[in-house]
Amino acid sequence: MSKKAAFLQLNLSLAPFLLVLISLLLSRVTVHSADEKKILSLHNNIWSPRKSNEASSSCFSHNLAKGRESTTLEMQHREVCSGKTIDWGKKLRRALVLDNLRVQSLQLRIKAMSSSTTESILETQIPLASGIKLQTLNYIVTVELGGKNMSLIVDTGSDLTWVQCQPCKSCYNQQGPLYDPSVSSSYKTVFCNSSTCQDLVATNGNSGLCGGNNGVEKTSCDYVVSYGDGSYTRGDLGSENIQMGDTKVENFVFGCGRNNKGLFGGTSGLMGLGRSSLSLVSQTMKIFNGVFSYCLPSLEDGASGSLSFGDDSSAYKNITSVSYTPLVQNPQLRSFYILNLTGASIGGVELESSSFGRGILIDSGTVITRLPPSIYKAVKTEFLKQFSGFPSAPAYSILDTCFNLTSYEDISIPTIKMIFQGNAELEVDVTGVFYFVKPDASLVCLALASLSYENEVGIIGNYQQKNQRIVYDTKQEKLGIAGENCRI
Ligand SMILES: *[C@@H]1O[C@H](CO)[C@@H](O)[C@H](O)[C@H]1NC(C)=O
Ligand SMILES: *[C@@H]1O[C@H](CO)[C@@H](O)[C@H](O)[C@H]1NC(C)=O
Ligand SMILES: *[C@@H]1O[C@H](CO)[C@@H](O)[C@H](O)[C@H]1NC(C)=O
Ligand SMILES: *[C@@H]1O[C@H](CO)[C@@H](O)[C@H](O)[C@H]1NC(C)=O
Ligand SMILES: *[C@@H]1O[C@H](CO)[C@@H](O)[C@H](O)[C@H]1NC(C)=O
Repeated sequence: MSKKAAFLQLNLSLAPFLLVLISLLLSRVTVHSADEKKILSLHNNIWSPRKSNEASSSCFSHNLAKGRESTTLEMQHREVCSGKTIDWGKKLRRALVLDNLRVQSLQLRIKAMSSSTTESILETQIPLASGIKLQTLNYIVTVELGGKNMSLIVDTGSDLTWVQCQPCKSCYNQQGPLYDPSVSSSYKTVFCNSSTCQDLVATNGNSGLCGGNNGVEKTSCDYVVSYGDGSYTRGDLGSENIQMGDTKVENFVFGCGRNNKGLFGGTSGLMGLGRSSLSLVSQTMKIFNGVFSYCLPSLEDGASGSLSFGDDSSAYKNITSVSYTPLVQNPQLRSFYILNLTGASIGGVELESSSFGRGILIDSGTVITRLPPSIYKAVKTEFLKQFSGFPSAPAYSILDTCFNLTSYEDISIPTIKMIFQGNAELEVDVTGVFYFVKPDASLVCLALASLSYENEVGIIGNYQQKNQRIVYDTKQEKLGIAGENCRI
């Protein structure tokens, strides 16, 4: 109080000038408090023509540190194992088309599950469009199965883990040899009269049925898993030792895939991290307590991330503390992880929508986050208000908020936050805000999209999960989120 008085006395003649200055300062301060921004470098990524950084060609990754009760695997973007020179522009644009197919099929699956007729699930698959190579799942890890290295695509949206198996009726090209049960002493057939096989029926609503053809008694437990985008695997169940990092799991039940279609792109198969009893998470419950977490790397800088099992938080390199939100219980959608999206903010400005407070899936396989139309509209309007003055560009595919940013180097973009029940917060990483439809930044779009209908279920895609530690705790039914720099 006394300081202020003295100040005013000394500067009476400057008062008008000072008042202007103070009001200017104040207005800056208020703008800033609601104007959280981050800097994005537009031409500093591996697909930029100005930075020709080629991906390595190996699908196989390394094991990382083992904690007391946890194990950590290196997780890579699967583009790194294509082994070819990549036309990034084409890749990035096709990924959007495929992403839309995955989301359409997810919506159909959800509808079918909600009406709880198991038969219809199989009928809701979108047919494999001719010529389209399906590559919707993006992240891979390496494990040892029966003593052989296998690279697996990570999928939180399905349950069964499978690999391509000898003898194979129809297998896609993979790096490294196929798994051969006949040369493994630890391989065991899962019989169709076992309870494991009956669990499969409960999980997938298909196959697992006993009853041979042509009078020959059937003993194997056959499975089919369709991924909704036209890709599928068919085969029979077996059990085998699986080594994840330094942790060995005995008698792990997996699918021996004899007929596999869809481009799982050079990998050996898929790791199912869904919630049913056949998933890897459920089968390793005694060892890892039903907890796993990942940090998805951004493809832009060619970095690796990690997939950890077990609830040892020393495996995390989180830069903010982990905030938890309950997993929403929905018995009809039991293999999915569902959160309660209660709010969102753009550049610090909180948005309003009557659609907050509903369930939203979190999926490692969907790329672009899909929001109910009313929420998307609020996001877009506020984003455009704050990200103004940049040349706009036409919409592309599912993305309708686009810009031509070729002539910019570093730009400042509003932060995007999603808020979940219990005030858990996901602050989208700077690499997760814009999607580069054209690698030279002449077509860059807000990486969020609207669902077609208000009553469809929203999905948090992997593009917005980059550089976050996402902790799935299936035992305590909660999900944790923290900022993390995945680069290792
Ligand atoms: C699997 O790959 C790792 C890392 O490349 C290597 O150290 C290990 O020896 C391999 N294991 C087998 C059984 O080939
Ligand atoms: C299941 O089938 C296998 C192979 O036919 C047989 O050896 C086994 O005894 C059966 N088990 C039960 C519980 O019926
Ligand atoms: C990381 O998360 C853990 C668990 O929530 C927390 O104890 C720790 O403080 C966090 N680290 C930082 C740097 O915030
Ligand atoms: C989400 O949280 C809000 C506020 O706590 C609650 O009113 C609403 O019922 C919840 N929605 C779901 C799907 O759990
Ligand atoms: C993008 O902007 C640059 C310069 O600002 C211009 O030269 C170029 O033609 C634009 N590209 C498109 C596709 O509009």
